[in-house]
Amino acid sequence: MPTLRIAFVQGRPEFGRTEENLEKGLALAATVEADLVVLPELWASGYVFSTHAEVAALAEDARTGATARAIAWAAKREKRHYVVGFAEVARGRHYNSAMLVGPGGVKAVYRKLHLFEREQEWFSPGNLPLAIHRVGSAKLGLLVCFDWRFPETFRALALMGADVVAHPSNLVFKNAQTAMLTRTLENRIFTVTANRTGTERRPGGTVPFTGRSQVVSPGGEAIAKAGATAEIALAVDCDLAQARDKSLTGITHLFDNRRPEFYGALVAKRRRG
Ligand code: ACM
Repeated sequence: MPTLRIAFVQGRPEFGRTEENLEKGLALAATVEADLVVLPELWASGYVFSTHAEVAALAEDARTGATARAIAWAAKREKRHYVVGFAEVARGRHYNSAMLVGPGGVKAVYRKLHLFEREQEWFSPGNLPLAIHRVGSAKLGLLVCFDWRFPETFRALALMGADVVAHPSNLVFKNAQTAMLTRTLENRIFTVTANRTGTERRPGGTVPFTGRSQVVSPGGEAIAKAGATAEIALAVDCDLAQARDKSLTGITHLFDNRRPEFYGALVAKRRRG
């Protein structure tokens, strides 16, 4: 059964410094050998927007923007895959997105479904279906940061066959990394959370990010993890057989034992009150 070597990059981009941030991210990525390298959410732009004009100035086309060009160039030269978060502009709308890039260029885009706080002012909610993408023989799903609070997203991707979920992040809740151990365990997949570190101080607010990026195994253990403040890339081998074995015991199967006929409330619109 194949192994996928997965890495995250954790760092501290400077708001609005697209080219420098991309250079820094790729320099950190170059320190590790991996088949798949994941960088944080909104890596090239930074996170704390203060005006719609700033969003418009920093948002990028998913095929021709600075992030797509820089990452596609690196993926081609290094013959490997990348996932990176970016501010996307498409048909006049802005999205908080992540792109999957392989040696042949941009392969897929995911638009964050669950926007957090002021992101709701700056971005439209994601409008693309959850999907599975090939990275070698691995099946990869994409989510972004605050999606961690919605277990349905990870479950849906796991049911669709994901071996690995890439999770570019700018996490602010201190318990997110711990919760991600459970998100991962309950689906028996690998997850890779590439998080930001440092504090962004801008007219739009001051936001401290929590670092502690990690790769989590299907058993719910962090098998690679960074500290809260390090600027670092770390890689680890992931045995995909572990993610494909959904047997909890000889006779208890994680997915076959589900009772979806009782879970209707999960997909119904909630009635308030
Ligand atoms: C977040 O979703 N960036 C908190």
